Amino acid sequence: MKPRKIKEKIYRMGSVDWDRRLFDALIPLPDGTSYNAFLIEGSEKTVLIDTVDPLMVDELLAQLENVPKLDYVVSLHAEQDHSGSIPHVLSRYPDAKVISSPKAKGMLMDLLRIPEKSLVPVEDGETISLGDKTLQFIHTPWVHWPETMVAYLKEDKILFSCDFFGSHIATTDLYATDEARVYEAAKRYYAEIMMPFRSVIRKNMEKIASLDIATIAPSHGPIYARPSFIIDAHKDWIDGPAKNLVVLPYISMHNSTRQMVDFFVSSLVENGVSVEQFDLAVTDIGKLAMALVDAGTIVIGTPTVLAGPHPNVVYGAYLANVLRPKAKFLSIIGSYGWGGKTVEILAGMIPNLKVEVIEPVLAKGVPSEADFKALEKLAETIARKHREHGLK
Ligand code: FEO
Repeated sequence: MKPRKIKEKIYRMGSVDWDRRLFDALIPLPDGTSYNAFLIEGSEKTVLIDTVDPLMVDELLAQLENVPKLDYVVSLHAEQDHSGSIPHVLSRYPDAKVISSPKAKGMLMDLLRIPEKSLVPVEDGETISLGDKTLQFIHTPWVHWPETMVAYLKEDKILFSCDFFGSHIATTDLYATDEARVYEAAKRYYAEIMMPFRSVIRKNMEKIASLDIATIAPSHGPIYARPSFIIDAHKDWIDGPAKNLVVLPYISMHNSTRQMVDFFVSSLVENGVSVEQFDLAVTDIGKLAMALVDAGTIVIGTPTVLAGPHPNVVYGAYLANVLRPKAKFLSIIGSYGWGGKTVEILAGMIPNLKVEVIEPVLAKGVPSEADFKALEKLAETIARKHREHGLK
C-alpha cells in the first residue's frame, strides 16, 4: 500500500498483514494485524516513527522511495514487529539517528545489533525540533515491554502510541470508524499483553492526561480520530469494577466434568449470574483473556489425569495467573477416578490472583445427586458474594 496522508506532511506508512494468525507464537490473531509506521516531514528534519515487521520491510522501503533524507528513526518499542526493520532503514539512510528510550537503547543493540553510534536515547519529557514541528517523548513503560515510550507531536496534537491503545486488525480503514469492531480487538489486545501491568498503565494514562490529544496513532490497527473512545475504554478495563460474571475455563475427558459444568452454568444463570464458559480443548485463548478482564469469579473445571489437573487446564490456570485479572473469587469443579491432588496443584498455581477461594466441588466418577447439590450451593454462594460486593 502507498503512504496514506493523515495531515499535511504526516503520513501513515507500514503494512497490513492480512494473513498472520499468531503473534509471539502465542497470541491468536483472528483478524490479522498491521504494523503502522509514520512519516513526519518537518521544515528542517524528517522523521520516521517505528518501522514494520521484517517480513514486510520491502513494502516500507518502497514507501520511502521518494524520501531523499531521513534524519531520525524513532523506536517507540524494541519489539521486532516495530523495530525489526530499523537495520534495513539504516542501510538506506546511514546518517539517520535512532531515537529511543535509554532502556530501549541496550535492547536495540542486543536484539538487532544496531550500532551504538546510531542510537540517541531521550529522557522522559525530552523534545526534538523538526523545524516547524516538535516531538515530545514520554516514557510509558510496560506497554508492552519495560522500555516503551510514546511520542507527542505538539503542533498537530497527535499521540503516536505504538502498542499502547493498539488493536490487531487488518483493515483498509485508516481510522477507527467501526468502533464496535475496534473495541473488541483493542480489548483483546489489552487483555493479552497489558492487563498484568495495569497499575503501571494507570500511571501512564495519568501521564498523558495533561496532553491535548486530537488523534491517537497506534502502531497496530486503525487511528483514533476520537481519542476519548479508546481512552475511556482503557480506563474501564483498568479500573472499572469486576462484573457479575463467572468465567469458566474447563476441559472434560469422559463427560463427568462436562455434566458438572452444564449443571453449574444453569444454576448460576438461575441465580442471576452471567457466565462465559471456555472448553480449553478448542478455545481461542484471546477470547478467554478478554473475558478475564471483567470476571468477578473464575471457576476452573477439570478432570483428574496423572494425579492432577488436565495439562490444558494447567495451561489455562497459568495464563490466568500471569494475566492477573481483577477477579475477586475462585473455585474449582471437576471429577476424579480414584484420587489425586488436583485442588492442591491448581491452588498452588495462582499466587498472583488476589482471590478468595470458595470450597471446590469434586465428584468421584460420574457426578452424584450430592455433587449436583454441592454445585447448586456453590452457585448460590457465588451469587451472594457478587451481590455483597456490589458486582453488576
Ligand atoms: Fe507490537 Fe509489543 O509489539
